Amino acid sequence: MTETSSFRAPKGVPDYLPPTSAEFVAVRDGLIHTARLAGYGHIELPIFEDTALFTRGVGESTDVVSKEMWTFADRNGESFTLRPEGTAGVMRAVIQHGLDRGALPVKLAYAGPFFRYERPQKGRYRQLQQVGVEAIGVDDPALDAEVIAIADTGFRSLGLDGFRLELTSLGDETCRPQYRELLQEFLFKLPLDEETRRRAEINPLRVLDDKRPEVKEMTAGAPLMIDHLSESAKAHFDLVLGYLDALGVPYVVNPRMVRGLDYYTKTTFEFVHDGLGAQSGIGGGGRYDGLMAELGGQALSGIGFGIGVDRTVLALAAEGKSATDGSRIDVFGVPLGDIAKQHLVALAGQLRAAGIRTDLAYGGRGMKSAMKAADKSGARFALVLGDREVTDGEIGLKDLSTGEQRQIPLNEAVAQLTAALTGKQP
Ligand code: HAM
Repeated sequence: MTETSSFRAPKGVPDYLPPTSAEFVAVRDGLIHTARLAGYGHIELPIFEDTALFTRGVGESTDVVSKEMWTFADRNGESFTLRPEGTAGVMRAVIQHGLDRGALPVKLAYAGPFFRYERPQKGRYRQLQQVGVEAIGVDDPALDAEVIAIADTGFRSLGLDGFRLELTSLGDETCRPQYRELLQEFLFKLPLDEETRRRAEINPLRVLDDKRPEVKEMTAGAPLMIDHLSESAKAHFDLVLGYLDALGVPYVVNPRMVRGLDYYTKTTFEFVHDGLGAQSGIGGGGRYDGLMAELGGQALSGIGFGIGVDRTVLALAAEGKSATDGSRIDVFGVPLGDIAKQHLVALAGQLRAAGIRTDLAYGGRGMKSAMKAADKSGARFALVLGDREVTDGEIGLKDLSTGEQRQIPLNEAVAQLTAALTGKQP
C-alpha cells in the first residue's frame, strides 16, 4: 500500500450510506412488513454454517456451490461457508430446534446479507442483501400462491410495477426422473462440447439455461418438463395458477425457466424487472419438497422466496420512484447565542421524545451558514432562536418549503410542530 492509498471495502461489497441507505432500509422493511401481514415470524440465522449444509442443500452441480462460495477453515480445521442463500440455513434451524414438530406450516421470514463470489457488476455483488420467507410442512397449492403473492404485494407496496412474474413447474419425484431421461436422450444426440455434455449428465436442465446462441438454437426443440408433468404435479400447478388469479396476481408461464439452485420441485418462479439490464432477477423462489429429508429431517415439503433488496432499490430508481420521502429530518434548530442554544438543545430532546426527527446546527455557526444547513437537511421546518427571544418566551418557526416565518410561543413549539407535521391537533 502506498502512503496516499487508503482502505477500501472488499471488491463487490457495497457500503450503504445516507441518503440512499434510507431507501435500502425502506425497501427491506416494506418487504418484511408484507410477510408479517401473512403471519411469518422472524428468524435470524448465522452468517456462516457448516460447508456441507450448502453443498448438500443447494447442490454440488450449481454455480453457487461449485464456484461462488466463500469457504474457510476455522482454527480446528473445520470447514465453514459464509451463507450464499437462506433456505438451507432455515431448514437446518427448523430441524435442529424441532419446529417441524409443532403447528404446520412453519412460517418464517428473514433479512440480511448473503455472500457469493460472483463477478461484480451493477446489481451483482459479492455481499448481497435479501429478504426471504419460507413456509414449511404443508404441501398446499394455496400456500404457493400465498408466498408468491407476498412478493408481488411487497414490490407493489413500494410503488414498483415494471416487473413481471414468471413461473413454471419442475415436476415431482414421480415425473422428474423420467423427464430427466427424456431430456438427456435429446441432449446426447446434439453435437455438444465436452463441458456442456458433462453438464447434461449431471444436471441436464441447466443446459436449457445456456445463454450461447448456438446452444439455444440446438435446444429450442427440447422436451419441456411442463409437458411431462405427472397428474398430481399438473393438478398442483393448475391450482396454483387458479389461486393466483383469485389473488389478482398477474403472471406468465415460462416453461424454460431454470433456477440456479438444485433443491426446487414443482412450483418455481422468478420476478423479472426490465429496467435493470443483465441482472434483471429481483426475486425468485419455489417449492423444495425434498430438502428437509436431504438434510436429515422428516420428509416435509416447503416453499419460499428470496428477494434481492439491492436490485429492488435499483429497480425503483429505474422507475424514477422512491420508497421514502427523501428527508432525514423534520425540524432543524438554529441557535443564535449561548442561552438560546441551551434552550434549543432541550427542545430538540422534547421534539425527539414526541417522535419528531430533529437536528441542530452545531459548532456555533452564524445565522447564514446555519440556515443553509437547515435547507440542506431536507427538514420541513426550521426553529430559529436568539437569546432575546428566550427572554420574550418566543421562537421563530420557519416553513422551509414556503419560506414563511412567524413567531410562536416557545412553550407551544412541541404541540404546534406535532400538529403541523402529523395533522393531529394539539
Ligand atoms: P436466488 O434466486 O439465488 O434464490 O436469489 C434470490 C434473489 O437474490 C435474486 O432474485 C436476486 O434478486 C438476489 N441476488 C442473488 N445473487 C445476487 C447478487 N450477486 N447480487 C445482488 N443480488 C443478488 C435464493 O437465494 C433462494 N434461497 C430463494 C428461495 C427461498 N427459494 C426458496 N426459498
